[in-house]
Amino acid sequence: MSFLGIDLGTSGLRAMLMDEAGLAIRTVEADYTTRSPAPGWSEQDPKLWIDALDAVVEELRITEPRFANLIGIGVAGHMHGATLLDDMGNVLRPCILWNDTRAATEAAAIDQNPVFRDISGNIVFPGFTAPKLAWVAKHEPEIFTKTAKVLLPAAYLNYHLTGDYVADFSDSAGTSWLDINARDWSNTLLSIGGMDVSQMPNLVEGCDAAGMLRQDLKRKWGLKQDVVIAGGAGDNAAAACGIGAFKEGQGFVSLGTSGVILIARDGCYPAPATAVHTFCHALPARWYQMGVMLSATDSLNWLSKITRQTPAQLTRALPDALRTPSAVKFMPYLSGERTPHNDAKVRGGFLNVSIQNDAVDLTQSVLEGVAFGLRDSLEALRQTGALPKALYAIGGGAKSDYWLKLLATVLQIELQVPEDGDFGPALGAARLAQIASCGSDYNNVMRSPTVSRVVKPDTNLIDAFERAYQNFKQNFAAYRSLNC
Ligand code: XUL
Repeated sequence: MSFLGIDLGTSGLRAMLMDEAGLAIRTVEADYTTRSPAPGWSEQDPKLWIDALDAVVEELRITEPRFANLIGIGVAGHMHGATLLDDMGNVLRPCILWNDTRAATEAAAIDQNPVFRDISGNIVFPGFTAPKLAWVAKHEPEIFTKTAKVLLPAAYLNYHLTGDYVADFSDSAGTSWLDINARDWSNTLLSIGGMDVSQMPNLVEGCDAAGMLRQDLKRKWGLKQDVVIAGGAGDNAAAACGIGAFKEGQGFVSLGTSGVILIARDGCYPAPATAVHTFCHALPARWYQMGVMLSATDSLNWLSKITRQTPAQLTRALPDALRTPSAVKFMPYLSGERTPHNDAKVRGGFLNVSIQNDAVDLTQSVLEGVAFGLRDSLEALRQTGALPKALYAIGGGAKSDYWLKLLATVLQIELQVPEDGDFGPALGAARLAQIASCGSDYNNVMRSPTVSRVVKPDTNLIDAFERAYQNFKQNFAAYRSLNC
């Protein structure tokens, strides 16, 4: 038996074939691009996802004999995207992605109505799905009128795989139309935007079956048995499944394009005023909360582009031991910010740069700015009652030892570095596929990885970084008021 976990990411699709013991057999990837036809827009043609899926399946089919024994598939997707279909299931326009900010005005207007925060448990952020539909209604009314179904990216792949319209709760929680406590679509919220529940996919738990693989795909892929498609998950819930974070207080910090601190919760404790996200988990009767900063490694990538040094070259130029906090301050808001500021318009900046500063100093201040931004998220999470004792550190930025030491010191928390391996959304999705197809107990399947090392806060520098963080917060308040 084998299981396939698909991570439909923003820049490409990764597929992990996993065996019965939960070990990765092989992971393959196919990239695609994002279009930005206007500033702040971010779109993808769903056909790119299907082409990428075909490419990775073909590679697995040819190179990996155990692919023929596939019995379960799970899809994890980038969240919040609006894929609009007509009544024949045809795509009406490119999918508007999570990092598209065109609907900022619509989001702010919808968020004014308190019933949205009350029922959906979250601020209506510009990247979420409901404001996108309000934008389409206003700017593309002919498309809005033809919209028979609104699918998130993962639900669109579920539709491609099964022929049925099915989504899971963890992903659907990011639409602003789900009652996250009741785990059901809210007619109240949908009707405010001129929508109704017939335009939504059916809902299942991420680890339950969404349907069966279409017979024509089964034949084309050379599979021996019928294949169960799991409900799947939003990418963050899937990453939590991959790292085994589903019990109260378990979680991770992810230094990816965006920076995320995610904590699993035993109950639903929404606190929208903190700008923390509260979403259903991909497992029944569980939720998670997360702080999201929009530019984490993206900030370092930006510095890398303008200094023409790779991110690894930039971070390697720093010493082994932590430096004392930089005099140069970096405001890590190159693409606006979600937690805790909910501000699509705020932008980044360097403060206090002097003639002596070099690229190493700027690198240090960028890493610190991101660490302070994540500390903001952790403080916001603590206000909701989410109290992690330690966090797994994952994502591309976690390869930098300097960044890890800095983050542990700024967050004042131990960071657990998993042993080498792939613990991202693809593994989480493969685990959901295993549960959905074999009925396995999720307590056994959702294991945490072995910790290769623990990065502890630098006790000599905790106080200095605490002062620097308080200073960062004050600087930000003044900086934001400049409104430039
Ligand atoms: C979460 C979010 C991103 C996307 C893309 O709210 O917007 O993490 O899911 O990965």
